[in-house]
Formats: sequence, structure tokens, C-alpha cells
Amino acid sequence: MKKISIGIVGFGEYSESYLDLWLNHPLVERVVGAEMIPERRAHIVKHYGIKMYESYDQLLECEPDIECIGIFTPRHMHGPMVIKTLNMGKHVFSAVPMGITEDEIYEILDIVKKTRLTYMMAETCYYFPCAVWCRKKYKEGAFGKFVYGESQYYHDVMDMVAAFASQGDKWKRTAGIPPMYYSTHSMSMLFSAVDDYPVDVTCFGYVDTEGDDIYGEGKNDWDNPYSNETAILRMSGGGIARINEFRRCGNVRPTSYITGLYGDKGAYEGSGNQHLFSRNDYYNNKEFTSETVSDQINSYNFIRDKEKDSVVNRGAGRTDYRYMMGYSEIQDTDRLPQSFIDIEKVAHVNSALGHNGSHAFLVDDFVRSVITGKLPPVDPWMAATYTLAGIYAHKSAMMGGVTLKLPLIGKAPEDWEKIDFDDIKY
Ligand SMILES: NC(=O)c1ccc[n+]([C@@H]2O[C@H](COP(=O)([O-])OP(=O)(O)OC[C@H]3O[C@@H](n4cnc5c(N)ncnc54)[C@H](O)[C@@H]3O)[C@@H](O)[C@H]2O)c1
Repeated sequence: MKKISIGIVGFGEYSESYLDLWLNHPLVERVVGAEMIPERRAHIVKHYGIKMYESYDQLLECEPDIECIGIFTPRHMHGPMVIKTLNMGKHVFSAVPMGITEDEIYEILDIVKKTRLTYMMAETCYYFPCAVWCRKKYKEGAFGKFVYGESQYYHDVMDMVAAFASQGDKWKRTAGIPPMYYSTHSMSMLFSAVDDYPVDVTCFGYVDTEGDDIYGEGKNDWDNPYSNETAILRMSGGGIARINEFRRCGNVRPTSYITGLYGDKGAYEGSGNQHLFSRNDYYNNKEFTSETVSDQINSYNFIRDKEKDSVVNRGAGRTDYRYMMGYSEIQDTDRLPQSFIDIEKVAHVNSALGHNGSHAFLVDDFVRSVITGKLPPVDPWMAATYTLAGIYAHKSAMMGGVTLKLPLIGKAPEDWEKIDFDDIKY
């Protein structure tokens, strides 16, 4: 079977946690990298022994035959790099978000539609067990009709200083990026679960008062005064979504999760490692049921620890975020290569199965998509919907919360199928 080659661009905090997966996927035959900071480059060469270039441009120039590029540069840089790479005829795996302007997003959609190259926004939260659980149960009809849901990404800006360090002295200018420009985690979990898209948005921002020169007019590249933003979105099916993007907040972990998804017949509610599902059947047999579904959603690692009567077992609520380290029962791990099931035995870092094991699914979906020419689960049109909703939410906040109509992105072309896990068996 065909194998792929990939060049990874940007080795900051994040992309190293994927490297063992790229190197251990049975259908990836070559991995090279590019990083501008010499110490980061040297670290990768020393531990992984892959060929490293000094920049994205140098990698493209020296490796004309590399067919895929993974973009892990800072969050505001993706759009132009994705466009350039696609225009060179290469497939793209890109960290979120898809872009930070409408123009970037429309251009990516245009190129992909014409070329049918794979563009995959690496949306980790689509694979989070709470999202997988809600998506599965919603599809089965357990919720009835969607009426309301809330999800969020809470990550204090001072807990992300390392992620902005590559910007040097200017780090505050990018750290102050509008929170809603990074809302695809929250949007994707909820919208994919109920298979719907938003049509209107209204959003309010919390004017930051910390006084540390990150937020405010003239302080960052977007003149953004808000550290926290709350959006209300009306979905095409009539339900309402509430999305919070907070960068000054007291909670530490977890960062992204669904707090509640309410249908007219069933409801999921999550808090840390506690996951509940209730079902209201008053309308037919007058029964009301409520069950804990935590063991389907929390990771096996967490459950194993719990059985050992660790501190996790004695605590309650959101006591330990290891519940999101590793795979969970609800995830379809049978479709993954065996090397990914065993990845912790060979991984150089303990984050290979971080973010709820989502990196393994992302890498495998990308490889399947490139090899088969089919669309990944989060296709470019879904990525555009999630990203644009955030861009419009910030626009609404800057206008004092006026309600804005969202552009209709539509769906992927009907003759472009999604990947089928039967196409490739490991
Ligand atoms: N759950 C998630 O989906 C998740 C989690 C963390 C980070 N991210 C995303 O991943 C991306 C990377 O995050 P990070 O925290 O590692 O950021 P980072 O700033 O620490 O790392 C980015 C790296 O890219 C390098 N770089 C920039 N331009 C380059 C170029 N032209 N050529 C080569 N290298 C270049 C920088 O030197 C830097 O080391 C961001 O977009 C972030 O939003 C996503």
C-alpha cells in the first residue's frame, strides 16, 4: 500500500507530542521537520534523529518531494502557510484555528474544492470522549431534539506564556489575540454532537483589568480589549449554544469540555471527571432516569488509577486531570494501528496520548484521508464553520454585542465521500 511523507513545521510546546505517532504510523515512511529556534531544532535532532531545516521555506525548497506538510506554527500564522502549501500541490495537516480572517478561510475552501487535496484542521476536541459520547447518543436519538448546549475552552493566558515564548519580547502582542479567534475547540464539540451549524451570533467581552499590557487598544496586534468572551449562537435547527472562551479565569483543568447538552428528551451534564446522562420519558411512559456514564468517558488510565484507590478515588469532582490522559471506552480504538495502542511503551514524551488520545486519531485520519483521497471527519467546511463563528463572535463583541448573521458555509461537495475505516485495515 502507498505510504506518505510529511514535513512538520514548528516545534514549540505542542508538535513534539505528535512526533512519536508520525514516526510509528505504519503508512508514514518519511518525517522531516523545520524550526526557526536553534535549541528547539537541536532537541528534536538529538531525541528523534530526523532531518531538521531552519525554516518552513527551507524545508519546501530542499524537500520538493515531500507530499504533506504539518503546520504547528503560532495560532495567528496558519492561514497564509496553509494557502501557500496547498498551492504547491501538497496536503495539509494544520493545528487550529484554520485562519484568523474570513479571506484566509474562503481561499482555503476554494483551493481545496478545486484541487481535492486533503486539508485537515487538527481539531483535538472533536475526538474528546465527551464529544464522541454526545455525538453517538445524539445520533441514536437518546437526546431527542437539541434545545441548548454549553461548551468552553478555559485557559488562563499566564498559563500559556511558554506557548507565546517564540515571539520573544513581542509575546504580549500575540498573547492578546481575541479569545474567540481560538474557539474551534468549543464550537466543534457541541456543533458536531448535534450535527448542526449556527446562523446568528451575539457575543459580549469582559474588558480586561489586569494591567499587564496584554489586552487593550494598542497592546496587541488586534487592539483587543477582551480577555474573556461569551457567545450565544442560534443554531439552524432552533437550538441555542453558549460558548465561553476565557483567558483570565480561576480554573486550571480541564480546559475544553461540554458542560451540558440538553435535548427535549435527554441531557448530558459534565463536571471534571463526573459525567451524567438523564432521560425524561414523562411524555410516553412517565419515567425519569439518571445514570452516571463516567466510566465510558474517563480514560482507562484514570480508571486504572481509581481502582488502585489512588488519591483520585478519594477525591470528588475535577480532582485530577489524568482522566483526560489516554484512550477511553467510548473511543473507537479498534480502527487504530496496533503501534498507536502501544505508543506509551515507546514514546519519548508522556503527552503522546494527551488531549484524550486525540492526537492518535488525528494522525491516523489524516493518513487515511491522504491515501484514499476521501475527506477527514472534520472536513474543511466544518473547520470553516467552527472558525468563522468565532471570528464573527469577536466582531459582535467589538460592536457591543449586536446580533450578527453568520455566513452560510454549506457542506462538502456531495461527490466527495468521508473516509471509510474499512478502506484500510491494519
Ligand atoms: N489542543 C490543541 O489543538 C492545541 C494545543 C496546543 C497548541 N495548539 C496549536 O498548535 C500550534 C503550536 O502551538 P505551540 O504552543 O507549540 O506554539 P509555539 O509558539 O510554542 O511553537 C510554534 C513554533 O513554530 C516555529 N515557527 C514559526 N514560524 C516558523 C517558520 N516559518 N519555520 C519554522 N518554524 C517556525 C516557532 O519558532 C515556534 O517554535 C498553535 O497554532 C496552537 O494554537 C493546539
